[in-house]
Amino acid sequence: MKKRLLLALFTAGAVAGGLLSTKAFAQQDQELSPEEEIRLVQEFNRMLAEGVNPGEVWYEVGKEAIKKYNLDKCDLGLGPGNFKGAMAQLPRYFQDAGKVMDLETRVGWCLQKHAGMKPEEVQKFVKQCWGKSGNCMSEYDAIIMYLTMESNGYKVNVNLKDPRVKKMYEIGKQAFQTRLGPWDFNCATCHAGKQEVRIRATRLWSVDRPGEVGSAVVIFPKYLVRWGLPMSMHYRYAECIRQMRWPEFIPHSDLGVALSAYLYGSANGTEIKAPGIGR
Ligand code: HEC
Repeated sequence: MKKRLLLALFTAGAVAGGLLSTKAFAQQDQELSPEEEIRLVQEFNRMLAEGVNPGEVWYEVGKEAIKKYNLDKCDLGLGPGNFKGAMAQLPRYFQDAGKVMDLETRVGWCLQKHAGMKPEEVQKFVKQCWGKSGNCMSEYDAIIMYLTMESNGYKVNVNLKDPRVKKMYEIGKQAFQTRLGPWDFNCATCHAGKQEVRIRATRLWSVDRPGEVGSAVVIFPKYLVRWGLPMSMHYRYAECIRQMRWPEFIPHSDLGVALSAYLYGSANGTEIKAPGIGR
C-alpha cells in the first residue's frame, strides 16, 4: 500500500468516527476526489466490520523502514535480522552494549549504530507523533509495530534467571512503588490493589489481579482510535508519568527498561497479540 493512501485511510477513519473536523480533513489531503474519499470511508468501515485493526498497517510501513534504516543489521538477541520471536524475550542483556535493554531502547541503540543517528535525532524520531492525532505516520512507531508483530503468537519469556535482568526487574518494581511529585503518586496508585480503579469509563489494570499485567502489556503497541495512531510502550510510560506529575520521562532511559523488565517479567507466559485497540 502507498503511504499517502494509508494516511488518507486513517484520516477517513477519523472523519467517519467524527474525530476530525472537515476543515482539517480538507487541508490534509487535497489530492483525493470526493469519490475516492467516500470509497476510503467505506473501505475503512468494512475493515472495522471485519475486525481488522488499523494499527496493522504500521507493520507494512515498518517492514520498509527496517530496510531504509539498515535495521536488518539490528540484533534483538537472536542474531542480526532474526526478529521472529525475539521481542518475546526482551528485555535481555546485550553484550555489545553492556546493558539490559527492552525493545524500544534496543531499537534506539540500533538506529545509532546502523543508521548513524545521534541520540538527539533518535529522540526526535521517537517523538514525531507524540501529542498529535488524526494523520501522523511515524516510521519509529512502524518499526516498533513490525518488530513486535514478528513475535505474535510467542509467549513472553523474560529471562529472570539472568541476574542482570533480575536486577532491572527489581529496580522496576521499586520504581512502580516509589511516590514522587507534587501529588505523591506512584504507579500503584492507579495500577494496584484488588479493588477496581476507574478513570472515567476506563477500568485500569492491576498488578494485584492475576493475569492483568500480562494482558496489559502483550497488546502493545496499542492502536488508539481517538488519536488514529498506535501507542508504543515508552509513549504509554511517558503519558502515565505525565499524568502523575513526575519529572518528564525520557524514552529509552533506564527507567523505561526497568519498568519493562518488571512488567514484561511479570507477564511471562502470556502470548503476544499486537496490536491491541482502544478508545
Ligand atoms: C493517575 C493514574 C495512573 C497512574 C498513576 C499510572 N497510570 Fe498507567 N494508565 C493510566 C490510564 C488512564 C491508562 C490507560 C488505560 C486504557 O486506555 O485502557 C494507563 C495505562 C497503562 C498501561 C497500558 C494498559 C493499556 O491497556 O492501555 C501501562 C503498561 C501503564 N499504564 C503503566 C503505568 C506505569 C508503569 C505507571 C507508573 C510509572 C503508571 N502506569 C501510572 C493511569 C495511570
